[in-house]
Amino acid sequence: MTKKVLILPGDNIGPEIVTEAVKLLRRVDEKFQLGIELDYGNLGGAALDAEGVPCPQETLDKARQSDAILLGAVGGPQWDDVERHLRPEKGLLTIRSELDLFGNLRPAIMYPQLAHASSLKPEFVSGLDILIVRELVGGIYFGEPRGIRTLEDGQREGYNTYKYSESEIRRIGKMAFEAAMVRSKRLCSVDKSNVLEATVLWREVISEMAADYPEVELSHMYVDNAAMQLVKQPKQFDVLVTGNMFGDILSDTAAMLTGSIGMLPSASLDKQGGGMYEPCHGSAPDIAGKGVANPLATILSVAMMLRYSLNAPKAADAIERAVSAVLDQGLRTADIFTDGSQLVGTVEMGDAVVAAI
Ligand code: IPM
Ligand code: MG
Repeated sequence: MTKKVLILPGDNIGPEIVTEAVKLLRRVDEKFQLGIELDYGNLGGAALDAEGVPCPQETLDKARQSDAILLGAVGGPQWDDVERHLRPEKGLLTIRSELDLFGNLRPAIMYPQLAHASSLKPEFVSGLDILIVRELVGGIYFGEPRGIRTLEDGQREGYNTYKYSESEIRRIGKMAFEAAMVRSKRLCSVDKSNVLEATVLWREVISEMAADYPEVELSHMYVDNAAMQLVKQPKQFDVLVTGNMFGDILSDTAAMLTGSIGMLPSASLDKQGGGMYEPCHGSAPDIAGKGVANPLATILSVAMMLRYSLNAPKAADAIERAVSAVLDQGLRTADIFTDGSQLVGTVEMGDAVVAAI
């Protein structure tokens, strides 16, 4: 049976890292006889330049007909001056929302080979393995009303709405409890229920759900404390579940603990297990076109795609082992380089992973 994968290279370093990930996808397809068929589409600034909108209808149509989507990264200063509703990021938010990709899994795993690239001392991060489960299509990112309006006194006011319905909380909660069940059965729900009503309800609903998962040890933490604990004692966490905005912020923090955001993959899943896979990092305009970007986050996103949407766990394992093998060989892109290792570019790193399969 063929499996359709839609490739959305995006902007700046997006096409560079996606090229390496596609090379690898073709290699595992051949080795494991997966029957993968590729198609391409535009998203973000690339789509705006080519088609006048950041998330074209054709891209959405192709995405709906695919078993999985691989995205590079979108955005960059080239589009700083475009109207807000046309910004590249809006393309990303639109595709997430249109496909109802509510469940964002962001693992932060410390590769032992990279313990020295972390900003924390090795003893705090060695063996670190955290999963952040971020709600992705609700909360303050999407709440209406929103906008910038002019008040009676003539000054402008920006406003957004932070809200979560019970069903939105339940479906992300279910994903998080289930993830905890197959890990070490510890789940920490992050909110700001000392201040925000939307998260008072969040805490209530998640607490109610705990009755269905008696084996999972549930705890709650305010987001400010969670941010502090993540850099103080990150290994206390296993699975974290939180809303859209807090998840955005905490996942960048968790990423840095592992040495580089250039290593972190992500999966954004709908309720049928279909999904979009992308690195957690952005489009890095400062290094675009230089051939130095780290392709490993995108490559590891391919592994997540094979595991969660394409039912090919052996191929996923093979990719993760290959990444570990190239790190063992001492190959490092600039973001994870330390003295004594071998500095390589995007293409060399991609080639090395392909060779290690
Ligand atoms: C992320 C990014 C996006 C987000 C931006 C690019 C809209 O930061 O995926 O974490 O805020 O969700
Ligand atoms: Mg972010």
